[in-house]
Order: sequence, then structure tokens, then C-alpha cells
Amino acid sequence: MYNIATLNKISPVGLSHLSDKYTVCDDVSSASGILVRSQDMHEMEFSKNLLAIARAGAGVNNIPLDRCAEEGIVVFNAPGANANAVKELIIASMLLAARNIPEGLAWAKTLEGTENVAKAVEKGKGQFAGSEIKGKTLGVIGLGAIGVMVANAAVDLGMKVIGYDPFFSIKSAHGLYSCVDFMPDIKNVLPLCDYITIHVPAMDSTKGMFTEELFYLMKDGAVLLNFSRDTLVIEADLLAAMESGKVGKYVTDFATDGTFGKDGIIVLPHLGASTAEAEDNCATMAVEEIMDYVENGNITNS
Ligand code: MLT
Repeated sequence: MYNIATLNKISPVGLSHLSDKYTVCDDVSSASGILVRSQDMHEMEFSKNLLAIARAGAGVNNIPLDRCAEEGIVVFNAPGANANAVKELIIASMLLAARNIPEGLAWAKTLEGTENVAKAVEKGKGQFAGSEIKGKTLGVIGLGAIGVMVANAAVDLGMKVIGYDPFFSIKSAHGLYSCVDFMPDIKNVLPLCDYITIHVPAMDSTKGMFTEELFYLMKDGAVLLNFSRDTLVIEADLLAAMESGKVGKYVTDFATDGTFGKDGIIVLPHLGASTAEAEDNCATMAVEEIMDYVENGNITNS
């Protein structure tokens, strides 16, 4: 029998894939494997029995990778398993920004109790007139599973899409529509884009990648979407670029004290992968990875 500890709530659908050789527990100290979502594990001590940690999500920045490597603990993630959920929210977020939806909703709420709401709406709605995303240019920074899905969906909505990836210099992303342009230098991409969406993993080499230098290459009023990690963006530089009007709007899935409640910034509470389907898919992939490693020694997505 193997003990599998769960940190955070792991989808029961995923856990149902564990064979009868496994028991689910909360006790990390006796576990052969750990299933985790977003809990930070950097300060956690691991037992000698621990063979593997599997993240039911894409990013592994909550796991101490160097220490796991030293202690012989294999770390898995679930690439692509939540990509559709994140893609759908990013498309929705571009529309939120383009159509001034948060501002419009906040204003509509102020009309509660107004005698003739319909008349008030007719009078005031002009201030929220937006623009269409069809015909606009989207820069997709990072062409992994999510970036490719977002790029293709944006093409389907009539956008012109330019892809860039910091880890490869030729267009090699699997499944990317052939009509998506590819540029090997981000500095050539940014000046062309009305919307820019970040899909780069959080690593030492990508930390603080979006600096003043990159913000000032953007088109005036560009909309930046960050559903990857807040650490990719130097926040002070972003706020300065917004103050000057260089960045028109920032939509982020990561709440920080510096961005919360600021004009032009839409902060979502890390909802990218929060769908029942994505949670089931991620947990199922993580469970299968752990079982295949513990029983057969196979390592996938490590
Ligand atoms: C991820 O790393 O997959 C995303 O941040 C979504 C999540 O796990 O909540």
C-alpha cells in the first residue's frame, strides 16, 4: 500500500483514478507521493519515504525544485490539462477590457434604487463605448499549451496574431495555426500589438522579464494580460507605464497590494484554471503520473 497525501482540495474525480494500492491521507510525513495545487511547499520538510510530488496545475513555482532534486524526489506537473479553461478566461478578459465591462457593471450598480433605471442607462451608457477585438493585433508571449490555444482562438475571432517564445527562435510550437506570425525577437513584436498576453513559465531566467524597456516598446494604450505569474512583471515599471498612458489596461489573475483597486487594472482572484473540468483533468493527470512512477518507474512531465 502507498500513502498519497493531498495538500489543498484535489478533485475527487482525479482521486478516483488511484488504484486500490493507494490510500489518501493528510499526513505528509508518511506519504510516498504528494498531490498539491497552489500551497507553497518551500518551507515544508519531506520524509525519506517521499518519492514524488505532483502538481495538479501547470506552474511549479510553489515547489522547492532544487531541494527535491537533491533529495531524489521527482516533481511532476500537468501541462495542458487546464489550458482550455485558461484560454477561455483570457479571451473573456480581452473582451472585458475592450468593452469596459468592469467599469460598466460598477456604474450600473450605482443605479440601484434609481426611479427610472432604463432612462438613466440610456443617458449614461455612452461613456462605456468600447472597441471590437476583431481586426486588432494580439501578441502571444510564450507558445506552450496555453499560448497556442489562445493564439488559435484569437485567430478564430478575427484577430491578427503574432507569436514569440523566449525559449525557441523558430516557429515550432505544436498545433499553432500556420497563419500565426512568429517573430524571434520580442522587441519587434511589442510595438505592433494592441493586446499582449503573457504565457511564459515563472523561472529564474524569466523573473522580472517585463521591465520599463519592454513597456516603452508597446503601442500607446496597449492592453497587457498576465495569466502566467505576477513575478514576470516588474510592478513599479508597469505602474509607471500605466501612469504615462503607455499601457492602457492591465488584466491580471494575481492579486498584489500594488495593483489592487487601481484604475485601468482588472484583478481576478486566480481564476484561470478554476473550472470543474480543469480541476478534474489536472488531478487525473497528476494521479496517473504518480502511479506510473511509483509502480513502473516511468517519468512523464517532470
Ligand atoms: C497553473 O499553474 O496551472 C495555474 O496557475 C492555475 C492553477 O493551478 O491554479
